[in-house]
Amino acid sequence: MKLAVIGTGYVGLVTGACFANLGNDVICVDKDLKRLETLSKGDVPFYEPGLPELVSKNHKAKRLVFSHDISSAVLNSEVIFIAVGTPPKSNGQADISAVISVAQSIAKTLKSKKKNKSGKFKVIVNKSTVPVGMGDIVTKILIENKISEKDFSVVSNPEFLREGSAISDFMNPDRIVVGASNNRAFNLITELYRPLNAHVIFTSVKSAELIKYASNAFLATKISFINEIANICERVGSDVLEVANAMGLDKRIGRQFLNAGIGYGGSCFPKDVLALMHLAREQGYDPQILSSVTEVNDFQSDAFVGKILKELKNLRGKRISVLGLSFKPDTDDLREAPSLKVINSLLKKGAQITVYDPAVSSNSKKELKELSFADGVYEAIDGADAIIVVTEWAEFKEIDFDRAKKLVKGRIIFDGRNIYDPKRVRESGFKYIGVGR
Ligand SMILES: NC(=O)c1ccc[n+]([C@@H]2O[C@H](COP(=O)([O-])OP(=O)(O)OC[C@H]3O[C@@H](n4cnc5c(N)ncnc54)[C@H](O)[C@@H]3O)[C@@H](O)[C@H]2O)c1
Repeated sequence: MKLAVIGTGYVGLVTGACFANLGNDVICVDKDLKRLETLSKGDVPFYEPGLPELVSKNHKAKRLVFSHDISSAVLNSEVIFIAVGTPPKSNGQADISAVISVAQSIAKTLKSKKKNKSGKFKVIVNKSTVPVGMGDIVTKILIENKISEKDFSVVSNPEFLREGSAISDFMNPDRIVVGASNNRAFNLITELYRPLNAHVIFTSVKSAELIKYASNAFLATKISFINEIANICERVGSDVLEVANAMGLDKRIGRQFLNAGIGYGGSCFPKDVLALMHLAREQGYDPQILSSVTEVNDFQSDAFVGKILKELKNLRGKRISVLGLSFKPDTDDLREAPSLKVINSLLKKGAQITVYDPAVSSNSKKELKELSFADGVYEAIDGADAIIVVTEWAEFKEIDFDRAKKLVKGRIIFDGRNIYDPKRVRESGFKYIGVGR
């Protein structure tokens, strides 16, 4: 099939590269010229395991091309995916301006009656996470531009991939949700996904839009729930890992997303929970569970800093080695990373920070320029008064404590992701402070 994917971020580029790899002809469009230049050279502008190889292979085979010209991409495609960002506004509402701008460009192109090289009927697929009702807004924009309802259909096909395992998640989804208002559009999208042999669910557009928010909000709720249990564990002397492991064996509960720590971050959970709360409040409903989920999440990083202060007392001039930065391992994404909140609090109290993250460098973000970056774990902890773990990268789990002991000034580890066995750490001569243990 001939496809256009508008937006070449984590979702758009993975979608484009995976569909191209399945044999489709894909035009990936972005408004960011620098990004397009990088992609056309065969490079990927962010860290995602396996993606550079997939992009390069399909780009060379000419199944995947990059363009700034949305109009030509629309005219050359049967299916047009919208995968632009929907960041939060200051009131939590999702900013849908990029989706609207793309919809307007599609409408103007179709209105211009330029030669339509890929048939008249177009399916416009919203892959961006958008508030319920966005499908109607996109449809209205097309109708206002005098595009006949016979010639297009707007579908909601939310994406559930996770950064760090995006390709495998895309290729092996638990389910594919297709929110469509007619069989023609549903069948076309189902056909596109057929090679994945996945469970495809046909819903209304509005249900599909809510399924994405509800799924992310539920996962965020699981995290805040176990964090709350961890906070109780600390007060009553239980170990949250033992609790979570046993809870998770219950099939009704499941072990995933029951990892206590310094809270969730990233470009999805925080913004999607806030957007869902905003959506509910717009309709006069007070989302009490979701409010608590965000409150507990905010509390976790503050409580972690509180533990560091309690142990180290005065942080002025103390050298703290921070292991990790990205909001989770196997990505370089720093959006809403709890690490940044922790580091800011420590800096305000006068601490000197040395950071090491396998995928993030000081060039990744302006505010990181002031931090001292190390090239590896042992360089980072050299001379440190304390080690704090804020991202659970696999290589941090392999730390040689005997070697570490000789390098550090203060033998104390604050494990914000519960990656170590407290007994083992204590036996090697360090004081161990985790979350809920
Ligand atoms: N990142 C994830 O893990 C993930 C997972 C599932 C769903 N989502 C959702 O998918 C959407 C995209 O997320 P992302 O993380 O890929 O975003 P991103 O910020 O990484 O990428 C968005 C891209 O869209 C481009 N863009 C913005 N406006 C444009 C326009 N008018 N025309 C052309 N290109 C434009 C930007 O330049 C950028 O390259 C969001 O709604 C997000 O909530 C993200």
